[in-house]
Amino acid sequence: MKILGIETSCDETSIAVVEDGVKVLSNVIYSQAELHAKTGGVVPEVAAREHILKIIPVLDKALKEAGCDWDDIDAVAVTKGPGLVSSLITGTEVASVISYLKKKPVIPVHHIIGHIYANFLDRDGDEVKFPVLVLTVSGGHNELILMRGHGDFIVLGETRDDAAGEAFDKVARILELGYPGGPVISRVAENGSKTAFDFPRSYLEEDSLDFSFSGLKTAVLSETKNQIKLHGTLSDKLKADLAASFEEAVVDVLSDKIIQALDSTIKEVHLAGGVSANRRLREITLEKAKSFDVKVRWPQKISYCTDNAAMIASAGYFIRKMALKAPANIVPTISFELF
Ligand code: KG4
Ligand code: ZN
Repeated sequence: MKILGIETSCDETSIAVVEDGVKVLSNVIYSQAELHAKTGGVVPEVAAREHILKIIPVLDKALKEAGCDWDDIDAVAVTKGPGLVSSLITGTEVASVISYLKKKPVIPVHHIIGHIYANFLDRDGDEVKFPVLVLTVSGGHNELILMRGHGDFIVLGETRDDAAGEAFDKVARILELGYPGGPVISRVAENGSKTAFDFPRSYLEEDSLDFSFSGLKTAVLSETKNQIKLHGTLSDKLKADLAASFEEAVVDVLSDKIIQALDSTIKEVHLAGGVSANRRLREITLEKAKSFDVKVRWPQKISYCTDNAAMIASAGYFIRKMALKAPANIVPTISFELF
């Protein structure tokens, strides 16, 4: 079954064709990051206009790269939310028009479920074994989810304020490193000391699997102001130390919460979402999970970590498969309410 995926929830215009939920035939992503770098973050109206300009060329390219015409496509999966409403609407409108003109079913996909399915792409037969503990970490969301099977999700924890990616973006702004913050902080941190500053780690209540990163962000802001007062300016070395100490505090908490949520039944740990591209997060999770009998995975490509349509097409495939198997009077829903 070939699914055309559409993703326009924030600042990436992306369309993909994925076969049987796992084989990526094309995954075209037009990122607006350069455009939003000028304002240090996404301006919804600017993002919305850009989606409208880019979506048709992206669609043409995705079909061409996959070597498909409309007869080859079985259904269209589209991100229904959460995200910026003015951005989402371009994707959902395009899906509706395709459905009407080409007579294809439309599968609405929850954005976070899309991120979870990024870990099923391009595995070459190395199949995922359930139950899986998934850490979803992005700019807009941050959850710990128990996936017991396809369409079977339990949210164990979520952020009470900022998501990890949002904290990366805000700290990059404090350190005047540009947008998006995650990749640049990670790069700069390589030349810094993880222990130069002892930033706070917020674990909340003893048995809580929720997250909180706003206190850490404020701590980085006040330490940065202190350093500027002391030295008159922020040297590259100081920036690197602040970035490395901040990054370590984030990945320490994220990985500790994973370990806290593990039990003997869990077979795999998955990292998903934009922050799963972070090298130190991958390293520390592997390190801490070593004494457990679990396989740790993250998406096969960096482009599957951040927003992309291949993950939406994959989720759409598994939703469609459940729908086709279900008795006619039951409509399966694999979504969960977080927002
Ligand atoms: O999943 P995504 O593309 O969008 C949302 O659904 O929010 O994630 C984007 C987020 C941004 O906050 C970005 O700074 C972060 O992912 N990110 C990273 C890295 N690459 C992207 N954070 C840490 N390290 C990275 N290497
Ligand atoms: Zn996302």
